[in-house]
Amino acid sequence: MSLDLDPDARKDMADAAARDGGARKVFIKSFGCQMNVYDAARMADVLAPEGFDETTRVEDADLVILNTCHIRERAAEKVFSELGKLRELKQERAAAGRDTRIAVAGCVAQAEGAEILRRQKAVGLVVGPQNYHRLPDLLRRAETGRGVVDTEFPVEDKFDHIAPARPERTRARGISAFLTIQEGCDKFCTFCVVPYTRGAETSRPAARIIREAEILAEAGVRELTLLGQNVNAWAGVGEDGAVWSLARLARRLAQIPGVLRIRYTTSHPNDMGADLIAAHRADPALMPFLHLPVQSGSDRILAAMNRKHDAAAYVDLVARIRAARPDIALSSDFIVGFPGETERDFEDTLDLIRTIGFASAFSFKYSPRPGTPGADMADQVAEPIKAERLARLQVLLEAQRQDFNRATIGRTFDVLFEKKGRHPGQIAGKSPWLQAVQVDGPEALIGAARLVEITAVGPNSLFGRLLDPHGEARA
Ligand code: 5AD
Ligand code: SF4
Repeated sequence: MSLDLDPDARKDMADAAARDGGARKVFIKSFGCQMNVYDAARMADVLAPEGFDETTRVEDADLVILNTCHIRERAAEKVFSELGKLRELKQERAAAGRDTRIAVAGCVAQAEGAEILRRQKAVGLVVGPQNYHRLPDLLRRAETGRGVVDTEFPVEDKFDHIAPARPERTRARGISAFLTIQEGCDKFCTFCVVPYTRGAETSRPAARIIREAEILAEAGVRELTLLGQNVNAWAGVGEDGAVWSLARLARRLAQIPGVLRIRYTTSHPNDMGADLIAAHRADPALMPFLHLPVQSGSDRILAAMNRKHDAAAYVDLVARIRAARPDIALSSDFIVGFPGETERDFEDTLDLIRTIGFASAFSFKYSPRPGTPGADMADQVAEPIKAERLARLQVLLEAQRQDFNRATIGRTFDVLFEKKGRHPGQIAGKSPWLQAVQVDGPEALIGAARLVEITAVGPNSLFGRLLDPHGEARA
């Protein structure tokens, strides 16, 4: 999904104008986390009644939305560079007689606000993550030609307006779908912008989540990934009026006909309650894979990061989770080169990784985010040291990932099939541990879970054979 305009784009634009007879198209490009992927789908839902169809070709779009992420280094600069390309596209389209509106959404929109309009005049609208339900109205206001900025934290709940309301209005989501249940964060880790860009922790009420899950299941979704910046801190009003925990919510969602699998991400170690751990023992729909970021294995650095737990507490927590569900696989996020991190601190992180054994992980060099406490800390670590530590960390994590994948050879487990495979006659799905699995099998099995025996392992996928292609659909 490059924004670069290919040489034939201008002709394509004229053709598109003739073909579409006036239907409007929106192109949404999402960066960063899964919550942005979910939000992009919701933006498309909100815009559909306004006559916008989604397109995957930016040069066809009457409205381009950059759904931005602020976590990575130079995030704002990258957005401005994308916007520069979009400005050219807007000019090309204008030459072909077509108008293009450009909107910036997501966390860079929230953080930069009106600055975006000042620096890039081609932008018509800047909208923060809490205000997507207002998009139709904001677009109308932007039509006057003056730039519009909406980065308020409104009192109303955006989800009341942007969640899919009816099955017939729900776009096909495939077999596996995200569902945001919680947003925002009160933890204030000293490296992180999320508490500033996504605001305070809020939990959606259970009834709304259940309704949305029912709609998704009716539309063919079989696996739900519940999303939240602190998803396991979810505490929402239940159907009975009591406050439910995530464990209770997951149990209820698993009762929805068609829902075979439930996952949730991202969890904070300190919110991993006893009932949620127990749910991994009791509830077969909860998949045995947990993304539980630890960031560092050094107690000194964990304290400086304001993570509010030490390495031993994490190891103990993982032991309790594994006692409940012995086959659970762990994944994590790591940051190397946080201010003050010494070689010794870094080795503590490597030790923790060896102790736990991760199935997969994301790892990053620390990058100062303006406005966060970490950015003002003394002892910033030099770039070459960060790079060298990241490389060493990734060698270890990659070896663990491959060990984990190789250990599946000869084993048999359920695969939920999601789509056609790479080659004709193949179908592709996911193991309970989020591994991609390819088998020879009929397309009719897409949407069903079947037993597969793993016969080979590639760098990024497992290969197997269906044991019972014609059996009943399995959970
Ligand atoms: N620098 C590097 N990595 C960061 N992350 C968040 N903020 C920063 C930062 N300033 C990483 C954390 C988090 C993941 C989503 O991104 O590891 O868990
Ligand atoms: Fe950021 Fe996660 Fe820490 Fe919240 S808990 S501040 S989202 S890293």
